[in-house]
Amino acid sequence: MTAAAAAPAAPPRTAMLEVADLSITVRRGADRKPILASVSLTCAKGEIVGLVGESGSGKSMTLRTAVGLTPEKADVSGQVQVSGRDVLGASPKELAEVRSRTASMIFQDPRAHINPFQRIGTFLTEGLRLHQGRSKAEATRMAAALLAEVGLPDPDRHLRQYPHELSGGMLQRVMIAAALAGEPELLLADEPTTALDVTTQAEIMSILLRLRRERGLSIVLVTHDLDLAVACCDRIHVMYAGSIVEAASATELARAPQHPYTAALFAARPAPDRAELRAVSGRPLGLYEVERGCAFAPRCPRAVDVCHDVAPRTRENDGHRVTCHLEESAEAGQGAAEASGTLTRPLTPLTKGERS
Ligand SMILES: Nc1ncnc2c1ncn2[C@@H]1O[C@H](COP(=O)(O)OP(=O)(O)OP(=O)(O)O)[C@@H](O)[C@H]1O
Ligand SMILES: [Mg+2]
Repeated sequence: MTAAAAAPAAPPRTAMLEVADLSITVRRGADRKPILASVSLTCAKGEIVGLVGESGSGKSMTLRTAVGLTPEKADVSGQVQVSGRDVLGASPKELAEVRSRTASMIFQDPRAHINPFQRIGTFLTEGLRLHQGRSKAEATRMAAALLAEVGLPDPDRHLRQYPHELSGGMLQRVMIAAALAGEPELLLADEPTTALDVTTQAEIMSILLRLRRERGLSIVLVTHDLDLAVACCDRIHVMYAGSIVEAASATELARAPQHPYTAALFAARPAPDRAELRAVSGRPLGLYEVERGCAFAPRCPRAVDVCHDVAPRTRENDGHRVTCHLEESAEAGQGAAEASGTLTRPLTPLTKGERS
């Protein structure tokens, strides 16, 4: 080999989650209600990816589909792979394996996902005994270690407690511990901090970021909080009416949002130097309410005729994947930001080092 041999190419990053062209329509008798339209999203090994958007845009549905939790009467098309395994065509046994060993979900409201009459210890050891065949003593030891890992001060006592004896923040840590029990490679966190105060939110997020660092976890983080997504995520996908309208690195999205909806979301953030909030005008539409054209057109300050008539295509532009008709999407974003009040408050994404 010569000294001048070319440097080896960087190894490709393994995709932990790959959602491609995912569409879901729920059947209700003769009615058809489309919920997701051609959603594509990836999360590489060790990456933290944000999914943001208004209520009803399809964030939870996308996340649940990643672990095969689709509505009962639904037509589902597209591809979903977790760590290279097909999810949509998986048998119930294969799905159970994916959920118990590869991908875990953390739900927004821990109290809605935990049996109030069951002790924390029973809740945590059940999966360890059932899926991993651990003895009761071994499962209890592991559960206590998991509680310590998520920063609960007295694991042995907490194992004997009931959910109502723990605060919301403590219970969310229990849910994270439960999600970690199968040693997953992928965490799907559906608004894990929305119901919590800002201090507890910061603690929960720092636990997730530490787990990503220490365990090499990949995380998909669903949140309403754009600032949180920009601060914590490597990349962000913005969802509107069942579609991803923009995806880019967190830094790039905050620097120059290209889709008018993304720009409007940034402009709508509360800021200390602004007396009133700049809400995105109009109400968010469900995909099923969109007859034609771009779903955001009725609220878009830059919409032109074609936006109301023809659905826009998705294209790459300067590292952004954006679904918008306006030719110069950077200008579209800027124009929308100006129309809804400029981005007066700069965002400060964490540096790569700070995030990891
Ligand atoms: N099981 C279901 N059957 C039929 N429609 C559903 C089902 N679950 C969700 N939907 C519909 O799908 C759309 C997207 O819902 P989803 O829960 O994914 O929104 P979201 O973006 O997570 O909103 P939020 O921020 O309020 O949690 C909504 O119109 C909702 O009513
Ligand atoms: Mg949701």
